[in-house]
Amino acid sequence: MSEGVATQSVADQETIEKLFPNTYGMPLIQFVESNKTTNFPAVNVGVILSGGQAPGGHNVISGLFDGIKKLNKDSKLYGFILGPGGLINHHYMELTSDVINEYRNTGGFDIIGSGRTKLETTEQFEKGCEILKKLNIKALVIIGGDDSNTNACVLAEYYAAKKYGIQIIGCPKTIDGDLKNEIIETSFGFDTACKVYSEIIGNIQRDCNSARKYWHFIKLMGRSASHIALECALQTQPNICIVSEEVEAKNMSLNDVITYIAQAVANRSAKGNNFGTVLIPEGLVEFIPAMKRLIAELNDFLIANANEFATINKEDQREYIIAKLSKENADIYASLPEGVACQLTLDRDPHGNVQVSLIETEKLLSEMVANKLAQWKKEGKYDGKFSVQHHFFGYEGRCASPSNYDADYCYSLGYTASVLIANGKTGYMSSVRNTTAPAEEWTAGGVPITMLMNMERRHGEMKPVIQKALVKLDGAPFKAFAEKRAAWAVNTEYVYPGPIQYFGPSEVCDQPTKTLQLERGK
Ligand code: FBP
Repeated sequence: MSEGVATQSVADQETIEKLFPNTYGMPLIQFVESNKTTNFPAVNVGVILSGGQAPGGHNVISGLFDGIKKLNKDSKLYGFILGPGGLINHHYMELTSDVINEYRNTGGFDIIGSGRTKLETTEQFEKGCEILKKLNIKALVIIGGDDSNTNACVLAEYYAAKKYGIQIIGCPKTIDGDLKNEIIETSFGFDTACKVYSEIIGNIQRDCNSARKYWHFIKLMGRSASHIALECALQTQPNICIVSEEVEAKNMSLNDVITYIAQAVANRSAKGNNFGTVLIPEGLVEFIPAMKRLIAELNDFLIANANEFATINKEDQREYIIAKLSKENADIYASLPEGVACQLTLDRDPHGNVQVSLIETEKLLSEMVANKLAQWKKEGKYDGKFSVQHHFFGYEGRCASPSNYDADYCYSLGYTASVLIANGKTGYMSSVRNTTAPAEEWTAGGVPITMLMNMERRHGEMKPVIQKALVKLDGAPFKAFAEKRAAWAVNTEYVYPGPIQYFGPSEVCDQPTKTLQLERGK
């Protein structure tokens, strides 16, 4: 094992250091090959699947299982049922080889289930400790996204401060692709999910190019970041792909986005093409600066006034909200179509996030584009037909069988977690690098989770959380897209990737996402 220099958090270093005195500043770790065989004592390990499903989770558990068994055949693995809630409520099962073997290389999280309970109170940490001590568990692996790994980091610090002797290791999971830095190359599941969505988008594009009568508005999961939409655009070459991060950087209004889409529709129509595809990232509305301000005020307001809001009749909620918001936000809220306005006040998730997957952005945009085109028609600027189909792809890809990339990556992440445990580490995230090379050349190590943290406002308070890695507008994937998009908008240059391939030439079966290849300069 080689250790690098001390690390810093991505921002707010002083505050994060104070909050994590026992786990801040630890070095990066890289494992080196060795023939030494060491006799490790048997170790009991716990594992939690946390948050949204992502292809490959079962392989992380398989890799972890094989890793701790290799350390000592008497080691045991316990899975906590339905996410962090299983730890607090003491619901668990032993994962024996019979169970594990049923799930190798399969999609889903059904081996033990997942959940979104937020681990944040001392009481929860202590309840967790009770069961971990009872089962003699020395290390707990939390497989999750940014919020779950934030929890892992806080838990690691707490157990270290209390000297409980329980190690906490995180694993980077999320189809959203937004849990990464220069050392964590990607989060698992992103590769498979994007390939599944691209297959379906390709199918739609072929249908679209056959019938030539519909515009397809396709919303893609990804919560905040647009990595999924961008990757699918690179794989399928749609007519339009909106990138939320660009909308924010250019300070675009909802009307600007609508005009951009309507103009592309009109340009294609002028060439006789009344059909096309539009990819929309699910988090878009939160990135339109004026909408973001509205959502931030709504978040704080609804947390502070949850009880009162619950007593307001559904039909009166819109007027109630308008009366309570600041003038600027009330005006925007009042201008939104009824359905979308209502969706913005629906329940938050346990981390305080608006549940963006419930907002029908694809319908909001198509409705407003249709209105604009109708107006242009009256003004004699447009003379086409605009018929729309709506789609939302998200859940379809989260439990797909992992691609070869995700199957190997996940197994390696799990195995690496076992090596971090063997080396007595806590507060680290398992990291597997050089993954654009053949798997034999991948390297393994650990990244201190505090390195990814910064301070953000959550539930109306400043909290230490992992900073989401959003699409970088000066990054290679966005640049590659920006170079081509004008041609894709006006011409029909669709690509139809077809289904994920598992057997055959490596160039077909083992390729990582275009995002990763471009980021790594391939
Ligand atoms: P994670 O960040 O927990 O991996 O979740 C990803 C995600 O699929 C998002 O893309 C989506 O917005 C959200 O989960 C949907 O949540 P839910 O499964 O609770 O409906």
